[in-house]
Amino acid sequence: MSRQTIIAANWKMNGNLALVESITSTINSIEFADNVKVVVCPSYPYLAAFASKISNDSINLGAQNISEYAKGAYTGEISADMLNEMSVGYAIVGHSERRSIFRETSTQIAHKVKAALANGITPILCIGESEAERMTEQTETVLSAQLQPVIDEIGIESFKNVVIAYEPVWAIGTGKTASPEMAQETHKFIRRFLAEQNAEIADGVSLLYGGSVNAATSEELFAQPDIDGGLIGGASLKVDEFKTICSTSKG
Ligand code: PGA
Repeated sequence: MSRQTIIAANWKMNGNLALVESITSTINSIEFADNVKVVVCPSYPYLAAFASKISNDSINLGAQNISEYAKGAYTGEISADMLNEMSVGYAIVGHSERRSIFRETSTQIAHKVKAALANGITPILCIGESEAERMTEQTETVLSAQLQPVIDEIGIESFKNVVIAYEPVWAIGTGKTASPEMAQETHKFIRRFLAEQNAEIADGVSLLYGGSVNAATSEELFAQPDIDGGLIGGASLKVDEFKTICSTSKG
């Protein structure tokens, strides 16, 4: 099956209007293959400016987080419905920084995935193990424990509208990228885990690798059979580097 290739940019709490301008003016002119989508996730205040500058059908807007609640007295929260109205098509859910710094639980993350789907937003569900967990061979247990609550909440069939980003925590922002072989092996495990519940759905889910991807490593990572693109943090803030990463996406 030919899966959607996705190159997603996670700006985190970085960037400004000047970056919105320089990134859009650079990537708008790239001709992407039909099955490639670029998803840029700036901070909330820049969503509208970004949306107004996109002139390339392959480029999509994403949010970095989403509320699990629909509406009401939740000061500081942003609902899926609001994001939908702002032309946001994707939302990163359960990033490791949300899990560790903001103490989001797998149950909460499952509710966020559900809220996104209910409003036509594709969740980019992040999962990944810590360095200690990899060293003690718990990677598969940890990834299963992060995935299962979401499967229980939305059902495996709904994964046809979910993107998964495998981001080993030890590789995020550290410059330590997983080797293509290690990343492939873990992606294969994730697909096999989903396949145990529905092989056809598992075959169609786009699995992204994230964690210190840069212009020098993206091509080999994206060439792996179970890696369908990347979630790029630091390197997505550098216009030329992000452009190069986009050009290494497999079409
Ligand atoms: P990084 O971040 O590319 O800077 O490691 C990736 C992420 O946190 O999504």
